[in-house]
Amino acid sequence: MLRSIKERVKESIKTYLESQEKQAKVLGNEIEKELNLLDETNQKKSIVGQAVRFCPSHIHLSDPYVRENFGALSRGYDEENIYKEFISLIRDYTMVTYDGLISLCDIVRNCEQKGITGDFAEAGVWKGGATALMSLVSSKFGNKPRMIHAFDSFIGLPEPIGEKDFDVRYLNMEETFKISKEESRGNLRPINALCAEKETFRKLLVDKIGHPTDKLMIYEGWFQDTIPKAIDKIEELAILRLDGDLYDSYRISLEYLYPKVKTGGFVIIDDWCIGGCRKAIQEYFAARGGVPFMSTVDITGRYFIKP
Ligand SMILES: C[S@@+](CC[C@H](N)C(=O)[O-])C[C@H]1O[C@@H](n2cnc3c(N)ncnc32)[C@H](O)[C@@H]1O
Repeated sequence: MLRSIKERVKESIKTYLESQEKQAKVLGNEIEKELNLLDETNQKKSIVGQAVRFCPSHIHLSDPYVRENFGALSRGYDEENIYKEFISLIRDYTMVTYDGLISLCDIVRNCEQKGITGDFAEAGVWKGGATALMSLVSSKFGNKPRMIHAFDSFIGLPEPIGEKDFDVRYLNMEETFKISKEESRGNLRPINALCAEKETFRKLLVDKIGHPTDKLMIYEGWFQDTIPKAIDKIEELAILRLDGDLYDSYRISLEYLYPKVKTGGFVIIDDWCIGGCRKAIQEYFAARGGVPFMSTVDITGRYFIKP
């Protein structure tokens, strides 16, 4: 029984990836055709930049076309060339969009340049791309390494909750994670979705980008167990990055980690497009004067400065 579920999950991931690849190829070919109609004097390079800029949904680094043309990608952001260099180091380790990563770089740079003290934390680090980017930008613009608190099960998502997490307006859980609403009760058991190994994360942070080991706390396990226990080790947060996808993952992260964010510190919400995340945020802030005004980062990301 267990084996057949695993096989089903594997198969569906494969089909999903194949369809993504197909879509990207079609888009890539269409752009390529358009480019071939231009003569050299039309400066293909800048047109490539524009084509990437007007990509139909969002710029994702897993898109083969974006990867191939990464050098030409230019959105006119501050410090974009420095950010791009860092992004190219971590792009195989993150699901965050290009704009989401740029915004993260800006937030970290702002903390360093304005002297906003405190640690960084991410709940839902997966392979570590976003966490590593925070470290890289901090070391470029700051003068000493920040303590980073990294939370993940490193065995993927736990079971969602039927009545909280299933909301087809934003993300179809059934289709994406091959789990039915009826069998989803929020149990702390892996559903074999979004798995990444702790060693992959550690190697990226420590071996590849050189974040000091004494400034890195990795909390392996379900947030529901690790976050309440970790809380005494965290004094104050300058940046809290929330990327746990599910209602309960957001609820527990907010309950314990939000009070640690200092006034003027940043809260980044990666999953605003997912129904469970929205619900958790709306419920948490309902009793606290409402959801603070959030800036839009990309199709799914939002952030706000703690009032
Ligand atoms: C979308 S991924 C994070 C992506 C990552 N931040 C990046 O840079 O691309 C979500 C992660 O949250 C973790 N996660 C979600 N809910 C969790 C929970 N309750 N306890 C532990 N880990 C959880 C999953 O294991 C997964 O690695």
